[in-house]
Amino acid sequence: MSVSPLLQVCDLAKSFRGVQALQGYRLELGQRDLVGVIGPNGAGKTTLFNALTGVAPPTRGRIVFDGQDITRATPDAICRAGIARTFQNIRLFRRLSVLDNVRIGLQAHSRDRLHEVVLRLPGFAARERQLEQQARELLDRLSLAEYAEAPADALPYGLQRRLEIAIALAAQPKLLLLDEPAAGMNPTEADELMRLIARLHSERELAIILIEHNMRVVMGVCQRIQVLNYGQLIAEGPPEAIQQDPRVLEAYLGVAA
Ligand SMILES: Nc1ncnc2c1ncn2[C@@H]1O[C@H](COP(=O)(O)OP(=O)(O)OP(=O)(O)O)[C@@H](O)[C@H]1O
Ligand SMILES: [Mg+2]
Repeated sequence: MSVSPLLQVCDLAKSFRGVQALQGYRLELGQRDLVGVIGPNGAGKTTLFNALTGVAPPTRGRIVFDGQDITRATPDAICRAGIARTFQNIRLFRRLSVLDNVRIGLQAHSRDRLHEVVLRLPGFAARERQLEQQARELLDRLSLAEYAEAPADALPYGLQRRLEIAIALAAQPKLLLLDEPAAGMNPTEADELMRLIARLHSERELAIILIEHNMRVVMGVCQRIQVLNYGQLIAEGPPEAIQQDPRVLEAYLGVAA
Protein backbone atom coordinates (compact mmCIF):
# COMPACT_ATOMS: atom_id res chain seq x y z
CA MET A 1 0.00 0.00 0.00
CA SER A 2 1.46 3.33 -0.94
CA VAL A 3 1.24 6.14 1.61
CA SER A 4 0.40 9.55 0.14
CA PRO A 5 3.11 12.15 0.76
CA LEU A 6 2.70 14.77 3.48
CA LEU A 7 3.85 17.51 1.14
CA GLN A 8 3.86 17.59 -2.63
CA VAL A 9 5.26 20.58 -4.46
CA CYS A 10 5.05 20.73 -8.26
CA ASP A 11 6.72 23.16 -10.65
CA LEU A 12 6.91 25.93 -8.07
CA ALA A 13 8.10 29.37 -9.19
CA LYS A 14 8.32 32.80 -7.63
CA SER A 15 9.44 35.97 -9.33
CA PHE A 16 9.86 39.47 -7.97
CA ARG A 17 9.46 42.11 -10.65
CA GLY A 18 11.24 40.05 -13.26
CA VAL A 19 13.75 38.45 -10.90
CA GLN A 20 13.20 34.71 -10.97
CA ALA A 21 13.91 33.80 -7.33
CA LEU A 22 12.67 30.24 -7.70
CA GLN A 23 11.66 28.14 -10.69
CA GLY A 24 10.71 24.58 -11.56
CA TYR A 25 11.03 23.55 -7.92
CA ARG A 26 9.58 20.23 -6.82
CA LEU A 27 9.54 18.17 -3.67
CA GLU A 28 7.83 15.11 -2.33
CA LEU A 29 8.06 14.77 1.41
CA GLY A 30 6.91 11.85 3.57
CA GLN A 31 5.54 12.21 7.10
CA ARG A 32 8.85 11.42 8.77
CA ASP A 33 11.26 12.88 6.21
CA LEU A 34 14.12 15.18 7.15
CA VAL A 35 15.29 17.03 4.07
CA GLY A 36 18.04 19.63 3.83
CA VAL A 37 17.99 22.55 1.39
CA ILE A 38 21.35 24.16 0.67
CA GLY A 39 22.65 26.62 -1.87
CA PRO A 40 24.67 29.83 -2.14
CA ASN A 41 23.33 33.18 -0.92
CA GLY A 42 20.36 34.35 -2.97
CA ALA A 43 19.68 30.83 -4.30
CA GLY A 44 15.97 31.03 -3.39
CA LYS A 45 15.92 29.04 -0.14
CA THR A 46 14.01 31.54 2.01
CA THR A 47 11.76 32.30 -0.97
CA LEU A 48 10.81 28.62 -0.93
CA PHE A 49 9.78 28.83 2.75
CA ASN A 50 7.89 32.06 2.11
CA ALA A 51 5.96 30.33 -0.66
CA LEU A 52 5.25 27.25 1.46
CA THR A 53 3.94 29.36 4.35
CA GLY A 54 1.78 31.74 2.30
CA VAL A 55 3.95 34.78 3.11
CA ALA A 56 4.86 35.24 -0.55
CA PRO A 57 2.55 33.03 -2.63
CA PRO A 58 4.13 31.43 -5.70
CA THR A 59 3.69 32.89 -9.17
CA ARG A 60 3.33 29.38 -10.57
CA GLY A 61 2.99 25.79 -9.40
CA ARG A 62 1.06 23.82 -6.84
CA ILE A 63 1.53 22.97 -3.17
CA VAL A 64 -0.48 20.14 -1.64
CA PHE A 65 -0.08 19.55 2.09
CA ASP A 66 -1.75 16.73 3.98
CA GLY A 67 -4.25 16.27 1.15
CA GLN A 68 -5.15 19.96 0.96
CA ASP A 69 -4.22 22.41 -1.81
CA ILE A 70 -2.55 25.29 0.08
CA THR A 71 -1.03 27.07 -2.92
CA ARG A 72 -3.08 30.21 -2.35
CA ALA A 73 -3.91 29.73 1.33
CA THR A 74 -3.22 32.43 3.93
CA PRO A 75 -0.31 32.08 6.38
CA ASP A 76 -2.81 31.55 9.18
CA ALA A 77 -4.62 28.75 7.36
CA ILE A 78 -1.31 27.12 6.46
CA CYS A 79 -0.21 27.23 10.08
CA ARG A 80 -3.50 25.65 11.15
CA ALA A 81 -3.03 22.98 8.49
CA GLY A 82 0.21 22.04 10.26
CA ILE A 83 3.22 23.90 8.86
CA ALA A 84 5.33 25.95 11.30
CA ARG A 85 8.61 27.74 10.72
CA THR A 86 11.49 29.62 12.25
CA PHE A 87 13.05 32.67 10.62
CA GLN A 88 16.52 33.43 9.32
CA ASN A 89 16.54 36.48 11.61
CA ILE A 90 15.39 35.55 15.09
CA ARG A 91 11.90 36.81 15.90
CA LEU A 92 11.09 36.78 19.61
CA PHE A 93 9.35 39.02 22.12
CA ARG A 94 12.71 40.05 23.52
CA ARG A 95 11.58 41.70 26.75
CA LEU A 96 9.14 38.95 27.67
CA SER A 97 10.19 35.86 29.56
CA VAL A 98 11.13 32.67 27.78
CA LEU A 99 8.01 31.06 29.28
CA ASP A 100 5.73 33.86 28.03
CA ASN A 101 7.17 33.60 24.54
CA VAL A 102 6.15 29.95 24.39
CA ARG A 103 2.84 30.65 26.11
CA ILE A 104 1.96 33.22 23.45
CA GLY A 105 2.91 30.68 20.80
CA LEU A 106 0.57 28.12 22.35
CA GLN A 107 -2.22 30.65 22.77
CA ALA A 108 -2.06 31.65 19.13
CA HIS A 109 -2.92 28.10 18.19
CA SER A 110 -5.35 27.16 20.90
CA ARG A 111 -9.03 27.46 20.15
CA ASP A 112 -9.48 29.88 23.03
CA ARG A 113 -13.06 30.85 23.45
CA LEU A 114 -13.06 34.61 23.42
CA HIS A 115 -15.93 35.04 25.86
CA GLU A 116 -14.03 32.90 28.40
CA VAL A 117 -11.01 35.13 28.11
CA VAL A 118 -12.95 38.39 28.28
CA LEU A 119 -15.27 37.36 31.11
CA ARG A 120 -12.56 35.40 32.90
CA LEU A 121 -14.90 32.49 33.42
CA PRO A 122 -13.72 29.54 35.53
CA GLY A 123 -12.78 27.66 32.37
CA PHE A 124 -10.34 30.44 31.53
CA ALA A 125 -8.26 30.04 34.71
CA ALA A 126 -8.07 26.31 34.18
CA ARG A 127 -7.08 26.90 30.57
CA GLU A 128 -4.35 29.34 31.66
CA ARG A 129 -2.88 26.75 34.03
CA GLN A 130 -2.98 24.17 31.29
CA LEU A 131 -1.21 26.54 28.87
CA GLU A 132 1.52 27.22 31.40
CA GLN A 133 2.02 23.53 31.99
CA GLN A 134 2.21 22.85 28.25
CA ALA A 135 4.71 25.71 27.84
CA ARG A 136 6.89 24.32 30.65
CA GLU A 137 6.77 20.85 29.11
CA LEU A 138 7.91 22.24 25.77
CA LEU A 139 10.76 24.15 27.41
CA ASP A 140 11.75 21.00 29.22
CA ARG A 141 11.82 19.03 25.97
CA LEU A 142 14.14 21.63 24.45
CA SER A 143 16.34 21.77 27.58
CA LEU A 144 15.33 25.39 28.22
CA ALA A 145 13.41 24.83 31.48
CA GLU A 146 16.03 26.52 33.66
CA TYR A 147 15.65 29.76 31.66
CA ALA A 148 11.83 29.90 31.85
CA GLU A 149 11.69 33.13 33.88
CA ALA A 150 14.56 34.93 32.08
CA PRO A 151 13.82 37.59 29.46
CA ALA A 152 14.29 36.14 25.99
CA ASP A 153 17.03 38.60 25.07
CA ALA A 154 19.11 37.53 28.08
CA LEU A 155 19.62 34.11 26.50
CA PRO A 156 22.80 33.38 24.59
CA TYR A 157 22.27 33.41 20.85
CA GLY A 158 22.21 29.63 20.45
CA LEU A 159 19.48 29.30 23.06
CA GLN A 160 17.40 32.07 21.45
CA ARG A 161 17.42 29.98 18.27
CA ARG A 162 16.32 27.00 20.32
CA LEU A 163 13.51 29.07 21.85
CA GLU A 164 12.30 29.92 18.36
CA ILE A 165 12.08 26.21 17.64
CA ALA A 166 10.08 25.72 20.86
CA ILE A 167 7.64 28.43 19.74
CA ALA A 168 7.28 26.84 16.31
CA LEU A 169 6.60 23.47 17.96
CA ALA A 170 3.90 25.09 20.10
CA ALA A 171 1.77 25.09 16.94
CA GLN A 172 2.01 21.26 16.98
CA PRO A 173 3.05 21.17 13.35
CA LYS A 174 3.28 18.12 11.13
CA LEU A 175 5.98 19.91 9.16
CA LEU A 176 8.65 22.13 10.68
CA LEU A 177 10.61 24.54 8.46
CA LEU A 178 13.94 25.70 9.89
CA ASP A 179 15.64 28.61 8.12
CA GLU A 180 19.36 28.57 8.98
CA PRO A 181 18.94 27.60 12.63
CA ALA A 182 22.72 27.27 13.09
CA ALA A 183 23.50 30.75 11.72
CA GLY A 184 25.78 32.63 14.08
CA MET A 185 26.32 29.64 16.35
CA ASN A 186 29.69 28.53 17.62
CA PRO A 187 30.70 24.91 16.85
CA THR A 188 29.53 23.62 20.26
CA GLU A 189 26.11 25.28 19.86
CA ALA A 190 25.83 23.96 16.31
CA ASP A 191 26.59 20.41 17.49
CA GLU A 192 23.96 20.69 20.22
CA LEU A 193 21.47 21.96 17.65
CA MET A 194 22.24 19.03 15.39
CA ARG A 195 21.51 16.60 18.23
CA LEU A 196 18.33 18.48 19.09
CA ILE A 197 17.00 18.33 15.52
CA ALA A 198 17.79 14.60 15.34
CA ARG A 199 16.03 14.03 18.67
CA LEU A 200 12.91 16.05 17.78
CA HIS A 201 12.70 14.19 14.52
CA SER A 202 12.99 10.76 16.13
CA GLU A 203 10.64 11.52 19.05
CA ARG A 204 7.77 12.98 17.11
CA GLU A 205 5.66 12.35 14.09
CA LEU A 206 7.33 15.30 12.43
CA ALA A 207 8.73 16.07 8.99
CA ILE A 208 11.45 18.71 8.79
CA ILE A 209 12.90 20.84 6.01
CA LEU A 210 16.19 22.35 7.09
CA ILE A 211 17.81 25.28 5.28
CA GLU A 212 21.38 25.53 6.46
CA HIS A 213 24.78 26.80 5.41
CA ASN A 214 26.56 24.81 8.10
CA MET A 215 27.51 21.68 6.17
CA ARG A 216 28.37 19.70 9.29
CA VAL A 217 24.82 20.18 10.53
CA VAL A 218 23.10 19.44 7.19
CA MET A 219 25.25 16.45 6.35
CA GLY A 220 24.96 15.21 9.93
CA VAL A 221 21.17 15.08 10.25
CA CYS A 222 19.54 15.05 6.81
CA GLN A 223 18.48 11.91 4.99
CA ARG A 224 18.21 13.73 1.70
CA ILE A 225 19.51 17.06 0.46
CA GLN A 226 18.34 19.41 -2.27
CA VAL A 227 20.65 21.99 -3.76
CA LEU A 228 19.36 25.29 -5.14
CA ASN A 229 21.37 27.64 -7.29
CA TYR A 230 19.98 30.79 -8.93
CA GLY A 231 16.47 29.60 -8.08
CA GLN A 232 16.88 26.20 -9.71
CA LEU A 233 17.10 22.76 -8.22
CA ILE A 234 20.48 21.52 -9.43
CA ALA A 235 20.86 18.34 -7.37
CA GLU A 236 19.01 16.09 -4.97
CA GLY A 237 20.22 13.02 -3.10
CA PRO A 238 21.73 11.53 0.05
CA PRO A 239 24.47 13.57 1.79
CA GLU A 240 27.34 11.40 0.48
CA ALA A 241 26.27 11.86 -3.15
CA ILE A 242 25.67 15.59 -2.74
CA GLN A 243 29.12 16.17 -1.27
CA GLN A 244 30.70 14.74 -4.40
CA ASP A 245 28.32 16.12 -7.01
CA PRO A 246 30.28 18.20 -9.54
CA ARG A 247 27.33 20.59 -10.09
CA VAL A 248 27.21 21.30 -6.37
CA LEU A 249 30.95 21.90 -6.11
CA GLU A 250 30.72 24.22 -9.08
CA ALA A 251 27.84 26.19 -7.55
CA TYR A 252 29.75 26.63 -4.32
CA LEU A 253 33.25 27.12 -5.60
CA GLY A 254 32.38 28.82 -8.85
CA VAL A 255 34.65 26.48 -10.80
CA ALA A 256 33.92 23.50 -12.98
CA ALA A 257 34.91 20.48 -10.93
N1 LIG B 1 10.62 40.36 -1.26
C1 LIG B 1 11.51 40.34 -2.25
N2 LIG B 1 11.52 41.31 -3.21
C2 LIG B 1 12.40 41.29 -4.21
N3 LIG B 1 13.35 40.35 -4.38
C3 LIG B 1 13.40 39.36 -3.46
C4 LIG B 1 12.50 39.31 -2.35
N4 LIG B 1 12.79 38.21 -1.60
C5 LIG B 1 13.84 37.61 -2.22
N5 LIG B 1 14.20 38.30 -3.33
C6 LIG B 1 15.28 37.92 -4.26
O1 LIG B 1 15.12 36.57 -4.58
C7 LIG B 1 16.38 35.90 -4.65
C8 LIG B 1 16.39 34.74 -3.66
O2 LIG B 1 16.41 35.25 -2.32
P1 LIG B 1 16.30 34.33 -1.05
O3 LIG B 1 16.17 35.21 0.13
O4 LIG B 1 15.24 33.32 -1.26
O5 LIG B 1 17.73 33.59 -1.04
P2 LIG B 1 18.37 32.61 0.02
O6 LIG B 1 18.73 31.36 -0.71
O7 LIG B 1 17.47 32.47 1.20
O8 LIG B 1 19.71 33.38 0.41
P3 LIG B 1 20.50 33.47 1.81
O9 LIG B 1 21.35 32.24 1.89
O10 LIG B 1 21.33 34.70 1.66
O11 LIG B 1 19.49 33.59 2.90
C9 LIG B 1 17.43 36.97 -4.36
O12 LIG B 1 17.88 37.45 -5.61
C10 LIG B 1 16.65 38.02 -3.62
O13 LIG B 1 17.22 39.29 -3.79
MG1 LIG C 1 17.64 32.91 3.17
